[in-house]
Parts: sequence; structure tokens; C-alpha cells
Amino acid sequence: MSKHQAAAPAAAWLGEKVMRKILVIDDDKSICESLRLYLAEEGYEVGTALTGDEGLKRAETGAWDVVILDIFLSDVDGLDILRRLKAAVPDASVIMITAFHDMPTTVRAMKLGAVEYIHKPIEIDELDAAIQRVLKRKAEARGKDRGSIALTNRFQERGLVGKSRAMKEIFKTIGVVSQSKTTVLIEGESGTGKELIARAIHEHTDPARPFISINCSAIVETLLESELFGHEKGAFTGASYRKLGKFELANSGTLLLDEIGDMSLNMQVKLLRVMQEREFERVGGREKVRTDVRIIGATNKPLQERVAQGAFREDLYYRLNVIHIVVPPLRERPEDIPLLVDYLLGKLNRELQKKISRIQTRAVELLAACDWPGNIRQLENALRRAVVRNQGDLLTADGVEDAMQETVKSGAQSRSSAIKLLDEVEKEHILNALKFAGGNRGRVCELLGISRPTLQRKIRKYQIRL
Ligand SMILES: Nc1ncnc2c1ncn2[C@@H]1O[C@H](COP(=O)(O)OP(=O)(O)OP(=O)(O)O)[C@@H](O)[C@H]1O
Ligand SMILES: [Mg+2]
Repeated sequence: MSKHQAAAPAAAWLGEKVMRKILVIDDDKSICESLRLYLAEEGYEVGTALTGDEGLKRAETGAWDVVILDIFLSDVDGLDILRRLKAAVPDASVIMITAFHDMPTTVRAMKLGAVEYIHKPIEIDELDAAIQRVLKRKAEARGKDRGSIALTNRFQERGLVGKSRAMKEIFKTIGVVSQSKTTVLIEGESGTGKELIARAIHEHTDPARPFISINCSAIVETLLESELFGHEKGAFTGASYRKLGKFELANSGTLLLDEIGDMSLNMQVKLLRVMQEREFERVGGREKVRTDVRIIGATNKPLQERVAQGAFREDLYYRLNVIHIVVPPLRERPEDIPLLVDYLLGKLNRELQKKISRIQTRAVELLAACDWPGNIRQLENALRRAVVRNQGDLLTADGVEDAMQETVKSGAQSRSSAIKLLDEVEKEHILNALKFAGGNRGRVCELLGISRPTLQRKIRKYQIRL
């Protein structure tokens, strides 16, 4: 995330800046030569001129970012060259080289439009600092000049946008798999859009059918089993009615098994069986239930690695891996960012009842230069922060920068929020188990594999009211 502080990556990403150009006009050959060597070493493209006239000609014909001009030229007065240069190229940024004690001439040079001055003998640090100031000012001015970009506000529910090669491939794959009910495995870091892709596959296949999603990592094994397959009345204490599982609810539609990489080996066996036989029994039942669902597995842990670690069954992996979609992280496809920003601002306008219609170009550059470890979700969060506080219909670069910085900070705190999240998951588990067991604490202990005192402690800790 630190990259966004430097302007260079954004500019380079837009293909705008490769090398800054500096012209040195000085009749002292050795100064010209040593500046040329030094500045070239620093990564600038350097031109030199030994006379005022030659300097003028070169200044008028090349697009120089900085002109360094000696005030004492032998053929003409440097101030005269400066005057003519500013008349010919009004936005030229000129650094004057002046003599140490010649204050009046320096003042005149500044009045004539020089932007900086350095003293003879030239100190490298002084020169560097002057060049940096000039370039910075120019970049800022450019940021203002290039103004802003109009938003399309073309937001549609569950849209999936992107123009990178990787995203175009994914769009193609969605089109192909929508013609059948093939199993699909989607892998990608958190926030890359796996669920959105799963939904898109479903929408393109048969939107009238159900789409059901279940997070396999957030539910303990026993509960997951009855969540997936349902249970019969009286299957266990507290099962006072028959409950349909996700497989039945998703029948003829799509079942998304989210975070499938976290599924226990035990559950993996059961899932494999259903996938092979296309039928299952509800927990506590004997009746065979036929199932016709498209299964989509999603994971942010590369499944092949899980197989290598012995945490995921190889046979199930091959069953799932019929069509494999790998969603690359956002940092590998920065060309998607402007499009995503346009799309997400449309979404946020609607969500927050705002009317943002333009965004400063500089803001898009900043956003595109960021790494986004939390991918599109994090980009959306940063934009949300910026939009909430933005006044008027132009989203400013300053506002975006502040929001990005805060998002970085909250990213640094993600360890503590991860712990908070774990607590929430645990509380959720216990609540689910209590509901599931009809409030029977003994049964809950059994389900969760914890002792009575532990359960009591957790009930107190999470202030669960029964
Ligand atoms: N290509 C995209 N176009 C538009 N919005 C997107 C895109 N990809 C992701 N999003 C949005 O980013 C957010 C995160 O996406 P999603 O929930 O699908 O990610 P995920 O990969 O399932 O993440 P996790 O692994 O954390 O569950 C959602 O709000 C989603 O709408
Ligand atoms: Mg998800």
C-alpha cells in the first residue's frame, strides 16, 4: 500500500512518464559536461547548450521539464535569454545559476519568471533540491490541469467488471460453463470476487432456479452435515421437526460451497459420495434423496496445496476441478482499477444516496498505484470512506488519499480485527448449536466437543441470553 505515496508508479502505469528531460545552458564547457554526467546518472535525459542562442533554439524545440540557465553567458546576458525564453515557451521551468553575492540580479531573474536559483559554485545537494521542487510543482500543476474524469454511473446489481486479459478469460469461461451444469472450482485471494463469479455463473445458467451458498469454514462439522443434508424429526435431541438441507434447497439450481478448502476430511468423504452418487440421506433418515445441483467450490487456499498437505482429498479435488477458475489478485491487474472505480462509485452513490459524477484524474492514479492486499473488497471500502465524507459531486484526490491511508491503517490492525472476527464466529457457532439442540446444553457440549464449564464460560463471555 505504500506505493501510492509516490506519484511515479501511477504516472508510469498510465504510460505517461518515462524520463524527465533537463536542458543545461552554460558557456562553461566543464560545467555543462559535469552536469550532463551527473544528471544522466540520476536518470534524467540531458541536453546541453554552450551559447545563449543555441540554448534558446533547443529550449523552443524540445519539451524540457527543467531548464538550467547560467546568468553569465559570454555572448549575451543570461537575463536576456531568460526573457526571450519565457516569451517563446511561457511554461518553461527555469532554474538560474547565479553568483553568490549577486542578490539584485537574482531578484531580477525571479521577476522575469525563473522558478528557482542556485549559486555558483554549484553544490549538488542544492541543485538536486531545486530540481525536485520544480518537478513536484509541475506534477501538481499537471494534476490540476488534467482535471477529472466523468463517471458513467452504469451500475447494475451483481455486475462483474474488468478488462484485463485475466478477467476477459473469466468472462469467457462463465459463458462456456453456463451451457451445462459442470462443477466449477474457483480459487482466489480474499475479496477477488469469487462469490460474484459463482453468482454470475448461476445467473447465466438458469436464474429462475435457487442459488444457495454455505460457508464451510464457519460451521462445525456436525452442524455442517445437517446444514448440507438436512435432518429428520427426532434425528437427535432437539430435532423437533424435519429440516431440509442446502442440497435440497438448492435442488435444480446452484450450491456454492464457500471456503471448501477448510472442510474437514470427514465431511469431504460425505461430499464426495454425494457427488458420485447424486443422492444422500438426511441426518437420522434412511430415505435416499436424489439431488440435481450444480456445485461450485470456492477457496482462498490453493486446493492443490491442501492436497499436498494431506488436508484435502485428492479424489474430491479431481471431482471438483472440472472447470478451474483462478481469479488473480487486483495488484496483478491494475488496468481493471479505473473500470472498477467507475462501477463501485455508481454502486456507492446508490447505497449512500450521493451524487458523485466526477473523480479527479489524480485520484484514479493513486488508486491504481496501490497494491490492495484485500483486493476489490478493500478498494470498495476505501472508496466508501472517501464518498461518505466527500462534499459535492467531484470526488477529490485529497479525499481519496486520506481514505486510502485510513484503509492501510485498518489493514495494519487486521490482526486484532481477525481475533474479533474469530470471537464472532465462535459466538455464532454456539448460538447455532443451541438453536440446533433446542437449548439442550448437554447436547451442545456434545456437538461442539467442549465441556460444560467451558460452555458456561463462553455463554457468559458472549453474553448469550437463553
Ligand atoms: N470484478 C468485479 N466487479 C465488480 N465488483 C466486484 C468484482 N469483484 C469483486 N467485486 C466486489 O468485491 C466484493 C468482494 O467480492 P466477493 O465477495 O465475491 O469476494 P470473494 O473472493 O468471495 O472474497 P472472500 O474470499 O473474502 O469471501 C463484493 O462486494 C463484490 O461485489
Ligand atoms: Mg466469498
